[in-house]
Amino acid sequence: MEITKESIEVLYDGPTIQKRIAELGKEIAKDYAPLTDTLYMVCVLKGSTHFFSDLLLNIPIDVHYMFIQIASYAGSSSSGQIVVKSWIEESVQGKHVIVVEDILDSGKTLKYVLNYLSKYHPETLEVATLVDKASKDHYGIKAKYVGFNAPDYFLLGYGLDYNQRFRNLPFIGYVKHGEEA
Ligand code: IMP
Ligand code: MG
Repeated sequence: MEITKESIEVLYDGPTIQKRIAELGKEIAKDYAPLTDTLYMVCVLKGSTHFFSDLLLNIPIDVHYMFIQIASYAGSSSSGQIVVKSWIEESVQGKHVIVVEDILDSGKTLKYVLNYLSKYHPETLEVATLVDKASKDHYGIKAKYVGFNAPDYFLLGYGLDYNQRFRNLPFIGYVKHGEEA
């Protein structure tokens, strides 16, 4: 499939994304302020880069940054193979942890990540995802914080890629019907 910038239709523009992220930040702060003064937030690279950064700027409590890199996708369809490229450097035992994902599609990647993080026995373990492809059951995984419930389109931009391209589009878009050949 060849995708050109011209064939990408905007689904959520930059201001819409920022407005929703500000709301999520407030919600997270409200939920966690009574529980802790430090949140441990895990960025799932590479797709979550922009969401992670913008979300954390909207959370008025201390956040401890953690990064993991997982790949599970080849092109526009899941390769089915999960590859862990880097992992957290310290235990999160007894901590309040939120995994920050760009998009929850089949849920396979997240299921894997949550399974391994839960082995550290965090005090709480939740998920924030910018986009939830809501029509899928995600192996039963539910994100506590969801930016947008999206249709099952292949999405691009604001971190989301197609073969490593289009991540730095300042909006989230999809390929117009009939132009993905
Ligand atoms: P899952 O394991 O099927 O839930 O897919 C997880 C990963 O696949 C996400 O974190 C994304 O990196 C990638 N992915 C899933 N859907 C899309 C999409 O529509 N556009 C770009 N990447 C996607
Ligand atoms: Mg991802």
